[in-house]
Amino acid sequence: MARLESGRRIILSRDVLRADYLPESLPHRWEHIRRMGEVLAPCLIGGRPSNLFIYGKTGTGKTAVAKHVLKRFSAEASRRDVRARFVYVNCRIAGTEYRVLAEICASLDVRIPFTGLSKAEVFSRMRNGLNRLWGMLVICLDEVDVLVKSFGDGLLYELTRSNDQGSSGHVAIIGISNDLMFKEQLDPRVLSSLSEEELVFHPYTANELADILRERASMSLSEGSYDESVIRLCAALAAAEHGDARRALDLLRVAAEVAEREGAERIEERHVRAAQGLIERGRVYEALSSLPLHSRIVLLAVLVASKGGGNGIATSGAIYSTYKALCVEAGVEPLTDRRVSTLISELDMLGVVSCDLVSFGRHGRTRRIRLAINSDEVMSVFERDELLSSLASKMLKNAPQN
Ligand SMILES: Nc1ncnc2c1ncn2[C@@H]1O[C@H](COP(=O)(O)OP(=O)(O)OP(=O)(O)O)[C@@H](O)[C@H]1O
Ligand SMILES: [Mg+2]
Repeated sequence: MARLESGRRIILSRDVLRADYLPESLPHRWEHIRRMGEVLAPCLIGGRPSNLFIYGKTGTGKTAVAKHVLKRFSAEASRRDVRARFVYVNCRIAGTEYRVLAEICASLDVRIPFTGLSKAEVFSRMRNGLNRLWGMLVICLDEVDVLVKSFGDGLLYELTRSNDQGSSGHVAIIGISNDLMFKEQLDPRVLSSLSEEELVFHPYTANELADILRERASMSLSEGSYDESVIRLCAALAAAEHGDARRALDLLRVAAEVAEREGAERIEERHVRAAQGLIERGRVYEALSSLPLHSRIVLLAVLVASKGGGNGIATSGAIYSTYKALCVEAGVEPLTDRRVSTLISELDMLGVVSCDLVSFGRHGRTRRIRLAINSDEVMSVFERDELLSSLASKMLKNAPQN
């Protein structure tokens, strides 16, 4: 019966392959889980744990480990009837100091309106909540660097100080960051109190990634739909970048989707390669979508110029005149030659165009520029932009085809 359909389902549970899925077991992180448990242990016997600072590159399991440990401690605290609470806040998602504080307050059963109170007022309500708790509040601030970059370290300072204020509730802070330079942005007092203990998450090796993938695959993909070589390839590709488990899981998930869409019986190496291309393109797409207006117009100028003969290569002079014509067409004031030249260098750095300098002997030098990515990719970004897409279709119609 199952054979009636051509191609069978490869993915049995999409959720398990998603990045926010929290697996029961975290291979190769037992040592980190144990260390974190050691640091937090005092809160189960009425003591105050040290603050803990966790850092490591993206996709090394910091969030997964922290959530896992908090979940276990919170279950254990209620089992033992200990007055301890645990709150996890993702600072990037919360977005502002106010929202971070509001989430902390919510864990103390203190309601904070969506906006409107002063920070001092929210703090004082939080302190009252702490007093009523008469115990330990463990606050995990994930992606805390994002908060500090936008708002400074004032909130961290207040939180680390709140133990000195003679209340009957205490806080311990777990800060998590994937930005290793972040420590330098902290006031020395904040840094020394936040990093009473430190835990570093190293990138995974290819073998470790393969173990992680194997477990996830066995829970989410149908039996016989993949084999060891597919797991190995995803692990190796992710390890070659920087041992990022999220990247490895993305590769496997997208490869499975590609295979399924194709009606294939099983995931093969070529599906993984295709997945790699798709993920890469997704990144380029994101970079291009967030370009400012003039950079987009410059990029369109490169695209138009590259369609106009000359093997897709155009001089900076030709690009500048195309750019100016596009600006006139769009009704925007063109930037100077020099500014445009800077924008071209930025696009070069993004890997969207590539430039080289050529010399014309006594006549000086000029830059030659060509598109470094597929023009369809550029067009797919412009399609979402009304101004650019109408400009593009007009200009490309007029450009001579080669
Ligand atoms: N040891 C592991 N075992 C199983 N899955 C893991 C392990 N480490 C990471 N993962 C999975 O990899 C993905 C990324 O991990 P996680 O979100 O914890 O990374 P992170 O270190 O917090 O990264 P970032 O700095 O970008 O926030 C998640 O889906 C997570 O479940
Ligand atoms: Mg994380």
